[in-house]
Amino acid sequence: MGIAEVHQFAKSIIIEAGERIRHSFSEKWKIETKADANDLVTNIDRETEVFFIQKIKEFDPSYKILGEEGMGEKIDSLEGVVWIVDPIDGTMNFIRQHRNFAISVGIYMNGIGKLGYIYDVMRNQMYYAIEGKGAFMNDVPLKPLKPISLDKSIIGVNAVWVTPNKRIEHEPMIELIRKVRGTRSYGSASLEIASVASGRMDAYLSLRLSPWDIAGGAVIANEVGAIASNLVNKPINLLKQDGFIIANPSIHEEIIEHYIKLK
Ligand code: IPD
Ligand code: CA
Ligand code: CA
Repeated sequence: MGIAEVHQFAKSIIIEAGERIRHSFSEKWKIETKADANDLVTNIDRETEVFFIQKIKEFDPSYKILGEEGMGEKIDSLEGVVWIVDPIDGTMNFIRQHRNFAISVGIYMNGIGKLGYIYDVMRNQMYYAIEGKGAFMNDVPLKPLKPISLDKSIIGVNAVWVTPNKRIEHEPMIELIRKVRGTRSYGSASLEIASVASGRMDAYLSLRLSPWDIAGGAVIANEVGAIASNLVNKPINLLKQDGFIIANPSIHEEIIEHYIKLK
């Protein structure tokens, strides 16, 4: 199967899934909690994941699917073609704000990112990338990132990492916040990654993300020259949870070296 064909198929099912999610606003959702009281999931998250699994398996039964809600198979290797799917990234925003959530999909072949998608469902904005062919938003090419200094940067960070916590020294994080021009926190990792890839923000970091939060975004990042890594500057691992940073190449290392002190 050619990459262009897989791309057309992926784009079409993501748009269809987005339509279904938008329609669901007229229904009553079932909302539950997962790992903790703030970790929310709805029937729409689960139904959207099932929708992807059915469509993908009809298209090619050999494709493997790693989805956040665990409705697909258990994946312990990236051999073959693996779709990594977050049916709704930003569920709390979906429930409370009715905006600022996305569908995130990465398609990997033997561990190499081939296609990446972040679909901002309520704005109808489809960010995507094809390995070696560039990144786009609604078919308009994203521009390569221009160098920027830290004091002129806007960075995406959750306020919790600037308060005492068990994962990172918060004092250097306070220094980082004082140094940069501004901070943002959107509550959807994939949309924050899309913001960096589009040059609206210059870095985004989080202490604990899962493969489905970053798989689509990592392919898009590569195509615009953004650097994505874990917080000790090692390549991202799509089989486990880890810290994550995506940044303009001119500030990526500086942030890690000077401001990130993991506990
Ligand atoms: C969450 C969002 C959030 C990030 C969390 C993720 P979900 O994804 O991306 O911004 O801070 O770590 O788990 O649970 O809404 O798919
Ligand atoms: Ca997510
Ligand atoms: Ca999710």
